[in-house]
Amino acid sequence: MKKGLFISFEGPDGAGKTSVLQGLLPKLATFGMDLETTREPGGVAIAESIRSLILNPENTTMDDKTELLLYIAARRQHLKERILPALEDGKLLLVDRFIDSSVAYQGFGRGLNVEDINWLNTYATDGLVPDLTLYFDIEVEEGLARIAKNRHHDVDRLDMETVDMHERVRQGYLSMLDRYPDRIVKVDASQELELVIADALAVIVERFFKN
Ligand code: TYD
Repeated sequence: MKKGLFISFEGPDGAGKTSVLQGLLPKLATFGMDLETTREPGGVAIAESIRSLILNPENTTMDDKTELLLYIAARRQHLKERILPALEDGKLLLVDRFIDSSVAYQGFGRGLNVEDINWLNTYATDGLVPDLTLYFDIEVEEGLARIAKNRHHDVDRLDMETVDMHERVRQGYLSMLDRYPDRIVKVDASQELELVIADALAVIVERFFKN
């Protein structure tokens, strides 16, 4: 039985969602729930192995459907080993990327059928959806400029994609925002980090911790 709260963090590359997630932790710690954070693809050993396979820049021949199925497989394992136990323990669980990334990147970005991806997501998660999804929105050029400036990691396979692909990914997120207005809330990620954190916190408090 699920007792915790599940919040996913989504956005195009360079939106800064991972920094926002880290910045929220001390503030959320005051609400009395145990916190847990994790990320996709990865978060548990099997899924981290799948992550290396997907993001390895040497894997230039990877087919789009293979890529999708690997993300889905990583999601399933992560769900069983991390997400469900955390929710059963009553934790406030913050997850860096989840189902919407597959729709945005493999669906809108790569052009795979979105309804097929929705079905695969449901299959992998047994229909679990986050209680809230924060979507960190930023113009593609601005996001890519941030990545170029703050690069601490090596170039991965997804980083090598074209600006057009990133543009389609962003449009995908914007269309999901229209489709799931009760679940997904947009946060303006072009602001200073502290302001983005404050906006994200306000959404979480309004939704779950008001009185
Ligand atoms: P990561 O370095 O974690 O990127 P970020 O910090 O932007 O989250 O790499 C994850 C990459 O995988 C990112 O480019 C988005 C992509 N991705 C998909 O294409 N589909 C998915 O289902 C998921 C979970 C991630």
